[in-house]
Amino acid sequence: MRNRSKQSKEVDHTVSTPSLHRGVEKELDLDQSSGLCLRILALLFFYAAFLGTVQYLHFWLPEPVESTDPNHPEKFVAGNAIRHMEALCALGVRNVGSRANEVHAPEYILAELETLKIEASRVGAELEIDRQYASGAFYLGFLTDFTSVYHNLTNIVARLHWPGVSHRHAILLGAHYDSAWNSTGAVDDAIQVGTLLEFARGLLAGPPLRTSVVFNLNGGEETVLQAAHGFITQHRWAKDCRMVINLEAAGAGGRELLFQTGPGNLWLASAFLRAAPYPHTSVIAQELFHAEIIPGETDYRIYRDFGHIPGFDVAFIMDGWAYHTELDAPIRFTPGSAQRLGENYLATIREVSEAPEMLMDPSEQSYTAGGVWTVESGSRGTVFYDVLGVAVFAYSL
Ligand SMILES: *[C@@H]1O[C@H](CO)[C@@H](O)[C@H](O)[C@H]1NC(C)=O
Ligand SMILES: *[C@@H]1O[C@H](CO)[C@@H](O)[C@H](O)[C@H]1NC(C)=O
Repeated sequence: MRNRSKQSKEVDHTVSTPSLHRGVEKELDLDQSSGLCLRILALLFFYAAFLGTVQYLHFWLPEPVESTDPNHPEKFVAGNAIRHMEALCALGVRNVGSRANEVHAPEYILAELETLKIEASRVGAELEIDRQYASGAFYLGFLTDFTSVYHNLTNIVARLHWPGVSHRHAILLGAHYDSAWNSTGAVDDAIQVGTLLEFARGLLAGPPLRTSVVFNLNGGEETVLQAAHGFITQHRWAKDCRMVINLEAAGAGGRELLFQTGPGNLWLASAFLRAAPYPHTSVIAQELFHAEIIPGETDYRIYRDFGHIPGFDVAFIMDGWAYHTELDAPIRFTPGSAQRLGENYLATIREVSEAPEMLMDPSEQSYTAGGVWTVESGSRGTVFYDVLGVAVFAYSL
């Protein structure tokens, strides 16, 4: 039996081999091509899912909060910031030297600060208000090298502090209310002025900070960073500022980008990654900026280079075609953008004020090491980026 079966198998084998072989080959061909199809499909699916996720996260904005919640008055309210933006834009184009910029915008901001001052004394804090007229000159290596001269530019400055807190350790917050030619500057930079006023309200409604907060709402940025220079080199509160958060725009909204930090101060990037609920940041933007590929500068540079303080430079960059044109109008701004930036940086301010580095003397910090401060010595110290807007990584180079 065994033998027979073996034989018959052998016979079967020899007989069936050619056709069987061809069948296997065909099957293999089919397997191979359907396998390839599957792989291509899987790859396409992967890219579609990845692109979809990235697109979604790129355009996602939180629901803008319309008005102050009586149960949580310390929370950021985009609606308040937007109302300030609309009021400033209603004054028209605010070029340096124009009546709108030198008289009406300061009047509006001062009136808002006076209201906040009353609120401050009600909660046992203090808001000091100052109007600085600054004149000066400085050298700037930007686009081409030049010396910039200015006369009688306005800074509206406010200082917020709580009882028992030293003036000598302040967080500086900056934005500008002047606008570019032929533009009412809704996003660049009226919304950011509104955001800082809303920060003041939110901070007063929340627990006291361990440091004071200085606001510089300046009236001369578009003439190339002049008023910020007047503040940081001449104002009596400037030397107390230990770090700066500068709010800017080079577009019409979207999610804000933290595009410069440091120089080399990892504690700042760490505070941001701990605090910000919706982080978005990339060291690549900073590298492009320093390589002068992007022909733009912000007040951050002035605070850093003339005030020798580190900080954060933050900007709206989506829809850059509206930047510095008459299209930069309130109607084009996406309200969720203000909510997103506001929640991120109000939390960051609170976090930074807790940092032990805020209480150090500037000389104890790395950015003044050796008494010589240069961009090269410090800025390349920190690597930072977010992954899908979900997590931030920051570490020293
Ligand atoms: C500076 O500007 C303010 C208004 O913006 C004006 O009242 C003042 O007279 C000016 N001062 C000088 C010295 O030009
Ligand atoms: C910009 O300039 C154009 C042409 O002069 C003018 O019609 C328009 O009103 C200006 N827009 C703003 C916001 O100033």
